[in-house]
Amino acid sequence: MADKEGNIIAKDYGIGIKPPAQTFHVKGMGHAEWGMKTRLSQIFAADGRTIMLAFDHGYIMGSTAGLERLDLVIPQLMKYADCLMATRGALRACVPPDCRKAIALRCTADNSVLKDDMSHGVIGVGIEDAIRMNASCMAVQCFVGADGELGSLNNLVRTVDAGERYGIPVLGVVAVGKEMERTTRYFALATRLLSELGAHIIKTYYCENFEQITAACPVPIVIAGGKKVPELDALQMAYRAISEGAAGVDMGRNVLQAESPVAMLKAIRMVIHEGAKPEEAYKAYQLMKED
Ligand code: R5P
Repeated sequence: MADKEGNIIAKDYGIGIKPPAQTFHVKGMGHAEWGMKTRLSQIFAADGRTIMLAFDHGYIMGSTAGLERLDLVIPQLMKYADCLMATRGALRACVPPDCRKAIALRCTADNSVLKDDMSHGVIGVGIEDAIRMNASCMAVQCFVGADGELGSLNNLVRTVDAGERYGIPVLGVVAVGKEMERTTRYFALATRLLSELGAHIIKTYYCENFEQITAACPVPIVIAGGKKVPELDALQMAYRAISEGAAGVDMGRNVLQAESPVAMLKAIRMVIHEGAKPEEAYKAYQLMKED
């Protein structure tokens, strides 16, 4: 029944008090619409940062070191990440549907590592499945400068179009083929290009003069982990990246192939969200891995 009395006695309208300024903690997304923002807020914590755990690489590499048993590994790691980056197959297989973590759904299907040129990917997951799987964002791999550049950019813009219709952001992944350079110039070009085409978040590799790349990219950048390196090196890379303007990490092998993946993810959390220096986080890692 309508509350007529409550309406009559309502009196605290705060006349003269300005509403709080509308701010949003995700770079470049102040003008995005509500649905888009609520999903970005699942990915990025209030400090504007994120820890994405990437375990999507089985889609090109098959079962790799650290990912032999998704069902054993992922459940124990997921609580320490902000966002899980995976294929729909892996999600269904090993992430319980009551998981409240953000989901970055891998939406391209690319050639496997058995092929020399992996740049000719296609859209592998449609918008309907992204909605069904409650994706917080859709990840599309792009090969700027490779043979399949235009096709991969077509995958990106088609996915951005679909995402804009339903309020689902797109994570543009800068892929580097075997023959391609890993220079500041290249990453600056590729990250900016993907953002101009509408990607809401960019994943790229860390490189020299990284602050130039984050400065010129109008949306948040998360760094890829890449091949396994010693744990301290990975923590130092994460620290340098966020000090130079990155919004977080999207790491796979450097967590999954660490001696203790759980301790490694906790140490990364210390660097990304708790202001720890890499050496301090590494010390903590060594203690935690003994537990
Ligand atoms: C692209 O994003 C790839 O699938 C990555 O290789 C995957 O996410 C694994 O990440 P990482 O390179 O950190 O092992």
